[in-house]
Amino acid sequence: MPDLVIANLHANITGTDTEILKGIDLQMSKGEIHAIMGPNGSGKSTLSHVLMGHPGYEVTEGEVLFEGQNLLDLAADERSRAGLFLSFQYPFAVPGVTVANFIRMAVNAHRKGGPDGVDNPVRIPEFRKQIQEAMESLEIDKSMASRSLNDGFSGGEKKRFEILQMAMLQPKIAILDETDSGLDIDALRIVADGINRLVGPDMGTLIITHYQRILDYVKPDQIHVLMDGRIVRSGGAELGHELETSGYADIVKEVVS
Ligand SMILES: Nc1ncnc2c1ncn2[C@@H]1O[C@H](COP(=O)(O)OP(=O)(O)O)[C@@H](O)[C@H]1O
Ligand SMILES: [Mg+2]
Repeated sequence: MPDLVIANLHANITGTDTEILKGIDLQMSKGEIHAIMGPNGSGKSTLSHVLMGHPGYEVTEGEVLFEGQNLLDLAADERSRAGLFLSFQYPFAVPGVTVANFIRMAVNAHRKGGPDGVDNPVRIPEFRKQIQEAMESLEIDKSMASRSLNDGFSGGEKKRFEILQMAMLQPKIAILDETDSGLDIDALRIVADGINRLVGPDMGTLIITHYQRILDYVKPDQIHVLMDGRIVRSGGAELGHELETSGYADIVKEVVS
């Protein structure tokens, strides 16, 4: 069975009968790169939020299995500990908490073992060594570690920070929501290199993007087109190029007819 199985997933905005996800099916495993593309407002971010357990959405139908376990039964922190990672399209600023401290807290939360959550914090020198190595390999300036979280970060810095978190937490499946938006070409290349370096037999990624651009650097195994809360088409990397030249209009015609 694939590591992540999304089956007939429907979700509403919590407390309303406004349905955003209208039956999503998607399967992927570690080691794979999948991309979700689709026009604005199609439900891409909602899907990532629902997968992470955002309280603003309620699942009304369908299921999500992660390594055979019912993901929807888990709280957001348990999903993270199980190996699911989500980067936010619009990360919060947390003045006063440094990048290094934030990541250390996240690493320590992951290291809590067993059902009674015994602490097993990483030793500070070991952590410092790990984060320095990760920053070096991702070409992130050393000074970022001591800056406040997302406070005054440029678009490119936010995205690099996401990739740094991913490098340090080593999730099994990383969901990256519009990691490419707002990046200039150099930052895009660094983020893409980071993703390529991190994805391997033990990590897969689901890249949510509006543009083909990042997929020139990160070669997807599969591309899924999301429209109006449904995946209307799946295909290989060539689908991205097709969308780039013809836009979504042809698919809309197919779906409607
Ligand atoms: N909390 C919310 N309240 C009202 N509308 C929402 C909410 N969340 C999502 N939507 C609506 O659901 C649709 C899908 O949104 P979103 O998942 O952000 O799309 P995408 O990421 O593909 O651009 C949009 O029409 C958006 O306005
Ligand atoms: Mg979005």
